[in-house]
Amino acid sequence: MFVDSHCHINFEGLADRLPQVLENMRANQVTHALCVSVDLETLPSVLAIAAAHDNVYASVGVHPDHEDAAEPSVEQLVELASHPKVVAIGETGLDYYRLEGRTIADMEWQRERFRTHIRAARITGKPLIIHTRSSADDTLRIMAEERADEPGGVMHCFTEAWPVAERALEQDFHISLSGIVTFKNATDVQEVARRVPIDKLLIETDSPYLAPVPYRGKPNEPAYVSHVGRFIAQQRGLSDDELGVATSRNFFRLFQIPEPQVA
Ligand code: NI
Repeated sequence: MFVDSHCHINFEGLADRLPQVLENMRANQVTHALCVSVDLETLPSVLAIAAAHDNVYASVGVHPDHEDAAEPSVEQLVELASHPKVVAIGETGLDYYRLEGRTIADMEWQRERFRTHIRAARITGKPLIIHTRSSADDTLRIMAEERADEPGGVMHCFTEAWPVAERALEQDFHISLSGIVTFKNATDVQEVARRVPIDKLLIETDSPYLAPVPYRGKPNEPAYVSHVGRFIAQQRGLSDDELGVATSRNFFRLFQIPEPQVA
């Protein structure tokens, strides 16, 4: 009934107990997961998991925060995205949170890397998975300049307030909420959870990070996306089923995955 639109089950702590992680998904009615790439060095582990499991999909991209990672070219991303289980380009975007003595002007390498990903997404027609932190204006500006609305995509692990969500929605992007929405002080994100049009909403874990309440502070895993879904259902006055079905449909439509027949 739920889909985890963004996880890193190839990371330590999840990859080494993958059969249990997949079993926990089943037990919690989490039917599918998208395992998101953060650099080309670890991409083979993402692709291997997706190739081995029907209900796990993959993306190709280099995270904006991975400064020392191999820099991808447009051609390389396009080529890697031809793998049959790759449904998206990312995660990409901008992250100005850790400037470490540098200025925003010094972060041109991130903006160039982001443009590369958008160009690859336009060529392949695969949607973008966008990470933005402390950089909303530049993220939205580059999205507009590079016509990211053509492939479309999702603002993942969204932590901005409603006005930023509105601007992303204007570019026809989806909004994905993680376990952060369940945190007591996350009132901005909870407002977003109530206001995003239901056909633009996705849910995710971003596991192994950001476990939702009641597992906050503990290792996260895709099964826990059910807690994110239930929390948002409550916020919106929907049943768990309604929220789960709507966000799962959005997932299959956005990532161009044939919708499985529900028994
Ligand atoms: Ni992530």
